[in-house]
Amino acid sequence: MSGNVRDPKMQRINSEELADAFIAEQIKEIKEQVGDKKVLLALSGGVDSSVCAALLIKAIGNNLTCVHVNHGLLRKGESEQVIKVFKEQLGANLIYVDAVDEFLNALAGVENPEQKRKIIGKIFIDVFAREAKKLDGISFLGQGTIYPDILESKGIKAHHNVGGLPAELNFELVEPVKLLYKDEVRQVGEALGLPHSMVYRQPFPGPGLGVRCVGAITRDRLEAVRESDAILREEFAKAGLDQHVWQYFTIVPPIKSTGIKDGKRTFEWPVVIRAINSVDAVTASIEEIPYALLGKIRDRILSEVKGVNRVLYDLSNKPVATIEWE
Ligand code: XMP
Repeated sequence: MSGNVRDPKMQRINSEELADAFIAEQIKEIKEQVGDKKVLLALSGGVDSSVCAALLIKAIGNNLTCVHVNHGLLRKGESEQVIKVFKEQLGANLIYVDAVDEFLNALAGVENPEQKRKIIGKIFIDVFAREAKKLDGISFLGQGTIYPDILESKGIKAHHNVGGLPAELNFELVEPVKLLYKDEVRQVGEALGLPHSMVYRQPFPGPGLGVRCVGAITRDRLEAVRESDAILREEFAKAGLDQHVWQYFTIVPPIKSTGIKDGKRTFEWPVVIRAINSVDAVTASIEEIPYALLGKIRDRILSEVKGVNRVLYDLSNKPVATIEWE
């Protein structure tokens, strides 16, 4: 896909037929651009990189190498899903990198949110560049850039995801979805046969659970974030809320309060539930969750998540609050 400007006459991809036509055209274009050379892609499991990977696999098969970096800040089951879908189902050439210790060691004791983001971004590039160096004959870098990323280069993603690519990753780019809006990327993802849960997943920040484990990240509190998030997602899905709530997750701040369990005093963290609706993430309003559902989620979190003795619901809209806590 050449050029960075979308032709105003380009039809919105809003049907299976149009998605199929787009896929056929992209396969042709990718083949023309890449020939029999090799492409490298960082595959996070997010919608954009997943659709980009699936398109590239269709076009060039094993001449695509995907690298999935597990930084320890992913949601429960996320890495497993990437491996299952891309390696087992699509037969991708996928390198899984367990970099959990490297990330968590670098983040130990770091409280400042922007510092945390910088460290996560830097180590991600280091790990990815290290993997790239081990591979021979890479000529292109695949990237799941989408049209809003180009339009809003001063927007939220650019604001949060600072930093460029180092010289060793300075390959020519292949960006097959760069002129598509998010809804079109999803339509294409469905037509490519990617799972619904992957294609329609809620926005998830690059630094992942790291910004929801407020302050200095510790492994035990990070597990409390991951486990409570998994419970929230499961209960939202059961109640059908995953179909319409824009973003929902849990936060575990680094404070402890007194509780009582089995007749003994405890001193443990609270889990905060956040569920908001938004169109563009610039403003957001909270979802009014039914009390009975909140009660069910509370009971599960308090009985299943280690180190937690309280559950709170964040009532704040954006503004005055932001969506994430950091
Ligand atoms: P805030 O907290 O600024 O978040 O209201 C707005 C939207 O951006 C997401 N977000 C991020 N996305 N890297 C990202 O890619 C980040 O560092 C980051 N921080 C926040 C947030 O989840 C929400 O959808």
